Amino acid sequence: MTRLTDKSALITGSARGIGRGFAERYISEGATVAIADINMDAAQATARDLGDRAYAVQLDVTDQSSIDAAISTVVDKVGKLDILINNAALFDAAETVDITRASYDKLYAVNVAGTLFTMQAAARQMIAQGHGGKIINMASQAGRRGEPLVLVYCSTKAAVISMTQSAGLNLIKHGINVNAIAPGVVDGEHWDHVDSMFAKLEGKQLGQKKAEVAAGVPAGRFAVPADLTGMAVFLASDEANYIVSQCYNVDGGQWMS
Ligand SMILES: NC(=O)c1ccc[n+]([C@@H]2O[C@H](COP(=O)([O-])OP(=O)(O)OC[C@H]3O[C@@H](n4cnc5c(N)ncnc54)[C@H](O)[C@@H]3O)[C@@H](O)[C@H]2O)c1
Repeated sequence: MTRLTDKSALITGSARGIGRGFAERYISEGATVAIADINMDAAQATARDLGDRAYAVQLDVTDQSSIDAAISTVVDKVGKLDILINNAALFDAAETVDITRASYDKLYAVNVAGTLFTMQAAARQMIAQGHGGKIINMASQAGRRGEPLVLVYCSTKAAVISMTQSAGLNLIKHGINVNAIAPGVVDGEHWDHVDSMFAKLEGKQLGQKKAEVAAGVPAGRFAVPADLTGMAVFLASDEANYIVSQCYNVDGGQWMS
């Protein structure tokens, strides 16, 4: 079944990890996908791997001119933008007393301002087109509850959930559905980085944090990107036309809300 036939999607941070998984699935569902990433070499490699309906776009979500240029590139190339997934994000961990302004500024610039202003630019384009659209923001279980060493990242993901609610309520009058996905723990380079940070902060062996976390997931394992793609397709499809401002947990049973 192809549920996204002829749709034009832009996925931020899709050179690797979950975003790449979304791009691969969207293409299999009939969409054309902009692999938009700050790492252009990786974006180009991913686009090559994913075939003719993937193309790489340089994007730094902290830079307004880069956001505007990426949207223009999509419109020049495909003629329209139907779907945005705000997926790019950074992680950091520290004792509360050791959090730096630099870490705070960087995470808020990417995870919060980047999500907001990419969503805004996409919404402006979708409103101009006059046919509505779908915006999916990547939240996290970290946005549902604080964690002792993850204050900044958790608070950025709580902000993503809140922005999804407000933007969704505001944009539905244009036929634009804004919703979010809150994954639990997803294996990949991101979590390898998280594991190495916890190894330092908590004096653990490499891989130990991952094993402990996996043991605590009701489903008994980390997710892989393919575990999240069904929700991303559904929220981008016409079946989600009446779904507004929601955040769905796709986390193996970690969180109930
Ligand atoms: N991996 C997990 O366990 C997990 C859990 C919950 C939520 N999430 C969320 O899912 C999303 C994807 O996570 P992931 O694990 O695939 O992350 P990842 O670190 O593997 O990939 C992030 C991508 O974003 C790109 N990026 C970073 N800064 C950017 C910028 N300024 N502009 C454009 N692109 C930029 C990176 O180059 C990279 O390709 C993130 O929003 C993350 O917070 C991940």
